[in-house]
Amino acid sequence: MINADKFRRTLGRFATGVIVITTIDYDGKLHGMTANSFTSVSLSPPLILVCVDVQNQTHDFIKDQRKFGVNILSSKQRELSSYFAKTIPQPPEPDIVESELSKNGIPCLQGSLGFLGCSLVAAHLQGDHTIYVGNVEEIITEDNPDRPLIFYESNFRELNSTENQ
Ligand SMILES: Cc1cc2nc3c(=O)[nH]c(=O)nc-3n(C[C@H](O)[C@H](O)[C@H](O)COP(=O)(O)O)c2cc1C
Repeated sequence: MINADKFRRTLGRFATGVIVITTIDYDGKLHGMTANSFTSVSLSPPLILVCVDVQNQTHDFIKDQRKFGVNILSSKQRELSSYFAKTIPQPPEPDIVESELSKNGIPCLQGSLGFLGCSLVAAHLQGDHTIYVGNVEEIITEDNPDRPLIFYESNFRELNSTENQ
């Protein structure tokens, strides 16, 4: 039998970036969810996946709208990441949330390192999460020199090293 704490702690030793998955709620407003279960799947066609807890609001927004955005966060967006990791009901939206709609009508968070607008092509329920596979139909990348936001051992961190030569 796998010990749940040990499982969680061991997974936490895998350093990841941080994204906010953006969707639209049932009132037509932006809805965001912080996530790190994001992986590229295929280059041709361009596919990515995210894993979403079935109990999260985002789960049904993606299922119903069949589209979602992946916003790759910079280290300057740590507050945004904490905000979108909060449980329901959402607190009043702080000033830090600035967004615009992409061509396909998906909210894109300003200041992110990159944005992928996806249409839902597959959903696989596994355990308590659904693996959502998205076909990337839009890419927005600003010329943003900021560093990525990192999640490691349950803490947000910043890259602090130079490239290996
Ligand atoms: C760094 C970090 C990574 C997370 N990754 C995921 C994830 O990959 N999938 C997920 O379902 N929840 C993830 N969460 C938890 C959600 O952000 C959190 O449950 C959120 O409140 C869900 O919002 P919603 O119910 O409004 O959709 C993560 C939280 C943090 C802080």
